[in-house]
Amino acid sequence: MSRAFNFSSGPGAIPEPVLTQARDEMLEWSSARASVMEISHRGKHFIALAEQAEADLRALMAIPSNYKVLFLQGGATQHFAQIPMNLAAGASADYIVTGQWGQKAAKEAKPYTSVRVAASSEADNFFKLPARTAWQLDANAAYVHYTPNETIQGVEFHDIPDVGAVPLVADMSSNILSKPVDVSRFGLIYAGAQKNIGASGLVVLIVREDLLARCPASIAGIFNYAAHAKEGSMLNTPNTFGWYLAGLTFQWLQREGGLAEMGRRNADKARKLYDYIDASGFYSNPIDPAARSRMNIPFRLADEALDDAFLKQSEAAGLMALKGHRSVGGMRASIYNAMPMAGVDALIAFMRDFAQRHG
Ligand SMILES: Cc1ncc(COP(=O)(O)O)c(C=O)c1O
Repeated sequence: MSRAFNFSSGPGAIPEPVLTQARDEMLEWSSARASVMEISHRGKHFIALAEQAEADLRALMAIPSNYKVLFLQGGATQHFAQIPMNLAAGASADYIVTGQWGQKAAKEAKPYTSVRVAASSEADNFFKLPARTAWQLDANAAYVHYTPNETIQGVEFHDIPDVGAVPLVADMSSNILSKPVDVSRFGLIYAGAQKNIGASGLVVLIVREDLLARCPASIAGIFNYAAHAKEGSMLNTPNTFGWYLAGLTFQWLQREGGLAEMGRRNADKARKLYDYIDASGFYSNPIDPAARSRMNIPFRLADEALDDAFLKQSEAAGLMALKGHRSVGGMRASIYNAMPMAGVDALIAFMRDFAQRHG
């Protein structure tokens, strides 16, 4: 058996050089004489790793010095709740809902703040983004939350929305590190690691320092972002292996040319696949072209009775995890940073052949 091209939406493909380095260092990492998983997070070896990973991420994303970078746990889902716990400060919060993750974020926030859905594209089946002119933003909101890339629907913002002086909070779980972003436009960015950062169980959170003053002393320390920042993300035992793997990914990204290069590659990969789908006459993608995701590309076959055959044959051809989310149906190709153009080319070649045989 050989490794397949992995189109999984998450946990998703990890760059092969990251995996081989982790394999090579599994028994003895650095000069620690043990695996990175077997040493204290408070020892000098791990502290050096943690500092390097943060420095590398800061360099990659050009994170301004007035932002804290936290390496936390709980998955993005836990932070759906933790964000209002920490930032709502008794005010209501605005949510822009453009897919199922935004919907979940709004739902999980409800126990901790009064949620206002300031814009939603649910009535359009999440096939496009809500028109900016229709957003009902509240100038007194504690923050505005949105999901720059909706992993399930395959909808992505290609700019950063202007929400005035209200802090903008972004769930970047499925498009962080896929292109350069101006971090200074955000109050808080968070992302589960299992798509473009590494292994699940780690959440990277980037927060503007002044917002930490809002974190209420009344919440338990383990939920309190200010407490985590004060302790350098070591309030308790962090996900040390996840942090290590994230560090390897950041170094891989630097070697590959950084986020500008990733942005170019991701745009090229997505354009090629959408162009093929649109021209095929057999496959279709329902999303407004202006809002199509570069990371997650859902598509349907002309006849859904062929779905099972498509999945079986693609798997046999070394193309794995193309089944669409159960709520959307059809197929979905997730093409994160780790997916090479060769994988997209192989997918298109398979799709063309399948369409010829069944069209
Ligand atoms: C955009 C987005 N937000 C949140 C989540 C939930 O992340 P987790 O399962 O790590 O809580 C996901 C799924 O992986 C996602 O794609």
